[in-house]
Amino acid sequence: MPRVIEVADMWFKYRTSDDWTLREIDMNVEKGSIVALLGVNGSGKTTLLKVLAGIVIHQKGTVKICDIELNRKNVKRIREKVGLVLQDPETHLLMPTVREELSIPLIARGLSEKEIEEKIIEVARILEIEKLLDRGIDELSFGQKKRVSIASALILEPEILLLDEPTLGLDPVGCIKLMDLVTDIAKRKNITIIFSTQDIDIAALYSDYVYVIRDGKIVAKGPRDELLRDPYTLRQKCGLRLTRIAHLFEIAIRRRITSINELPITISEALKILERIKTPSKASV
Ligand SMILES: Nc1ncnc2c1ncn2[C@@H]1O[C@H](COP(=O)(O)OP(=O)(O)OP(=O)(O)O)[C@@H](O)[C@H]1O
Ligand SMILES: [Mg+2]
Repeated sequence: MPRVIEVADMWFKYRTSDDWTLREIDMNVEKGSIVALLGVNGSGKTTLLKVLAGIVIHQKGTVKICDIELNRKNVKRIREKVGLVLQDPETHLLMPTVREELSIPLIARGLSEKEIEEKIIEVARILEIEKLLDRGIDELSFGQKKRVSIASALILEPEILLLDEPTLGLDPVGCIKLMDLVTDIAKRKNITIIFSTQDIDIAALYSDYVYVIRDGKIVAKGPRDELLRDPYTLRQKCGLRLTRIAHLFEIAIRRRITSINELPITISEALKILERIKTPSKASV
């Protein structure tokens, strides 16, 4: 798979800060993959996503998005390839109604009225916001605003969608629903996603690959199936915890409640293991 994001030894500092906010960042992301960016508060997740979207420009190292080097000259081209949805939907939504909000970027791109309406209907269907199209933005709940802000990024059909803490502030069912919708459309349309989160259980459910950022540095990276099964790296190097189900199995293994010695990281993996260990005892009856 071709790489759509290539970052090498990138450093970034805000104008007002004395110290580097991001340091020595190396990142390679393959087209169509779903990447979780894990990190505690203040670790640099939002800043890194802003660099990748060309909202702020790094001072050292290289950032290439879809083979275009990110610099002041190319930043407009990069912004056409990347959609960024920030943590707080309030910062995105500027128009009075949902329909106007979704149509503004398309008007700016010069699409006809018919094309605009078709695209709005399509994206509204994907994010299940058809019934909200004529509602005022300030009549929406927080979760509905989140969906509208994601819709307004998706409507421009970006190659890369960057989601900053997409599940923050949503109820547990709402989290799963939103992540199901977004990852499903990404897989169908081959859109690359990087989502930041502090929730390792959400990272386990929805990512192919995981980066962990701590104090502005990438301290661990790897395929989800490897990294999230590595308690030492997660706890000692990353300052994170295991997924809930992995933690339960870790305790069960330590107390010799079970003879299995592998850590499932999701409930569905745990069920498969439990099914497997149930089968031999059935056969032996
Ligand atoms: N505009 C800014 N100017 C100066 N410093 C900033 C600015 N925005 C963020 N920072 C600092 O950069 C560091 C990283 O912040 P960032 O918002 O990227 O972290 P984060 O991982 O997204 O945190 P959170 O989980 O709280 O959203 C923090 O120390 C923060 O205080
Ligand atoms: Mg943040």
